[in-house]
Amino acid sequence: MTVMLTTKDLTYWYENSDNPLFQNVNLQFEPGKLYAIVGKSGSGKTTFLSLLAGLDQPKAGDILYEGTPLKRIGLTNYRRHDVSVVFQAYNLFTYMSPLNNLMTAMAITNSTHQGNKQYATEILASVGIAQADITRNVTHLSGGQQQRVAIARTMACDAPLVVADEPTGNLDEQNTQSIIKQFQQLAHQQGKCVILVTHEPDVAKQCDQQIQLVNHKFSVV
Ligand SMILES: Nc1ncnc2c1ncn2[C@@H]1O[C@H](COP(=O)(O)OP(=O)(O)O)[C@@H](O)[C@H]1O
Ligand SMILES: [Mg+2]
Repeated sequence: MTVMLTTKDLTYWYENSDNPLFQNVNLQFEPGKLYAIVGKSGSGKTTFLSLLAGLDQPKAGDILYEGTPLKRIGLTNYRRHDVSVVFQAYNLFTYMSPLNNLMTAMAITNSTHQGNKQYATEILASVGIAQADITRNVTHLSGGQQQRVAIARTMACDAPLVVADEPTGNLDEQNTQSIIKQFQQLAHQQGKCVILVTHEPDVAKQCDQQIQLVNHKFSVV
């Protein structure tokens, strides 16, 4: 079994170290698989994801990427090359078009496809962004379209690990299904390790593995 990401006795709290949000979490994530982290609002899903994404540091324990602790890789380095994040609020460059969002992300992360407009255009088409929309300002697109652009952006970058926080949050059924399909393709066809947080059981069911966060404890469903 190949493992991409490992949490080793991962522990985190915000203010009260006597009552950690989670403690000694030991989980493994493999490439080519789609994972769902499920749990009630306030249980710590976003916090957990932000640690996996290298946006914050554990209070105790480690996260290992391909066997190397993130702090040894360097969080900036890790965020730039290894992990790609889809935020709850899309986090697109709002003053840019979908095409330029992809081109800029490819440049920042030094993607092998850097500068390749044709490639970016094909990816946007594959997530259903119409040709006429790819050069419009992203703020003129619907929420569902913006989320698809955010996912297209992770596809355009080479990062082998993708984490997404409630990516189907405010979307209708049709957009939700199309986005799940994109994540499945990222995992199953591109071989990425995809970890998404969701409170929607219907979304979680369509992932390869569900991990529950209940009462400060993670368990594989
Ligand atoms: N920056 C912060 N400072 C203090 N407490 C926080 C902070 N961010 C989140 N929390 C608290 O930590 C808990 C987990 O939050 P979060 O990870 O956002 O949960 P979820 O994503 O599952 O809804 C909540 O009780 C929340 O209020
Ligand atoms: Mg959250």
